[in-house]
Amino acid sequence: MMFIVLLTVVIVPVVIAWPSMGKKAIKLPDSDTFIRQNGTKWQIQYVGNIKFTGSIGELGLGGDKCRSSFLGGRHIWNCGDMECASDPFKCGFSMGPAFYGTKSVSVINTTAHANVGDFQFAPPWHGDPKPVPPQSQYGMDTSNVVPINATTGLAYVWEITRGAPDGSHLDQGAGVVFVTLGETQPIAKRVGPLLTGSDSVAVGIFAIARVQQYIYNYNLQGPFGNILVGRVEASDAALSASKYEYLLYPPDNKTAPIWTRGIPAAKDAANYGMRTTESSGRFACSQYGSVTWSRYFHKYMLMCNLFLDFTFFYLAENPWGPWTGGYKLLGDDSGWLGYGVSAHPRWSTKDNELYFSQGPSGPLNMFKLTFHY
Ligand SMILES: *[C@@H]1O[C@H](CO)[C@@H](O)[C@H](O)[C@H]1NC(C)=O
Ligand SMILES: *[C@@H]1O[C@H](CO)[C@@H](O)[C@H](O)[C@H]1NC(C)=O
Ligand SMILES: *[C@@H]1O[C@H](CO)[C@@H](O)[C@H](O)[C@H]1NC(C)=O
Ligand SMILES: *[C@@H]1O[C@H](CO)[C@@H](O)[C@H](O)[C@H]1NC(C)=O
Repeated sequence: MMFIVLLTVVIVPVVIAWPSMGKKAIKLPDSDTFIRQNGTKWQIQYVGNIKFTGSIGELGLGGDKCRSSFLGGRHIWNCGDMECASDPFKCGFSMGPAFYGTKSVSVINTTAHANVGDFQFAPPWHGDPKPVPPQSQYGMDTSNVVPINATTGLAYVWEITRGAPDGSHLDQGAGVVFVTLGETQPIAKRVGPLLTGSDSVAVGIFAIARVQQYIYNYNLQGPFGNILVGRVEASDAALSASKYEYLLYPPDNKTAPIWTRGIPAAKDAANYGMRTTESSGRFACSQYGSVTWSRYFHKYMLMCNLFLDFTFFYLAENPWGPWTGGYKLLGDDSGWLGYGVSAHPRWSTKDNELYFSQGPSGPLNMFKLTFHY
């Protein structure tokens, strides 16, 4: 059940000011050399699984796609489907709860409630199409959260209806939620109808990022490894589909970006997207991830997974690319299941270190990545 919903989804981080000036750029070698330098020029340390505090932590709360964001001085975590010990009767079920983080990257504060169903992050809007049999309930994928001002954040949702005996679901469309800081948990609120219909691309479900006046949204759709990028001004403009623009897929990595108005239909996704220097021109991943600013590389860093397999990162000068080729972090023989990787730059104490977590339908594995270039 979780997988079906999750296949469509994503993440990411936030930072209003990502200026890059004055520092010497650190260059990486080609991707084969990079792999040989595993353990010398860079390393990965597994630091344990994410812990949830309080009684639902003791009951084994788990799930997938927990992404971290930062708003008004607080760490926010929002997740995919969550329940305790894979059993919805142990501590309830939530299609997407949100919590506050703590000083420790791998401790999430769930002390406030005994039932994870009390932590719903982004409920449907009252005017949304109701589930029609055989579907019986909603599903809500959510992006990470970016700030639009000091007290309010923004995130995207992709709404589906599901819960049919045959496991089928129906897409409903993309929506925008405003996020505020509740007493015990962040609260996301839709203020009107969905932004798009069910035929649209899933806006921001790979990840979103705040860069200067824009919110960049990413989603993985179209041919294998195609990641679209769109943007809109970080204001109430985000509530109008006509204010969005998307990058047309550039014929090569030297072509100046061409932005075109409106949110594309899913069937046209192949005409849009970002370039990498991979031979395919696209990314090597099939799962959502993160887009953050790396203070170490002075570049944007995109992280993603090949489903239950590799974890990659890519670097770029601009949030729309062009991106480098993929650098593998975790290999297919590492024993870790790559799913829903999320970078957590807010917990780095040095520029050369970065925490990230990933893992499907259960415990979330936390890693610390360190570079020595
Ligand atoms: C932040 O943005 C929200 C949504 O546009 C708005 O309702 C709120 O008044 C703004 N707050 C401040 C302090 O500007
Ligand atoms: C967890 O949240 C509760 C309020 O829900 C608060 O009283 C407590 O101090 C928090 N614990 C940590 C470790 O942040
Ligand atoms: C463009 O692609 C070529 C060939 O893959 C590569 O050598 C070059 O560094 C790339 N340029 C940029 C700006 O990514
Ligand atoms: C790098 O080494 C770690 C073990 O330290 C391993 O888990 C990981 O898969 C390696 N990465 C690659 C790309 O081989």
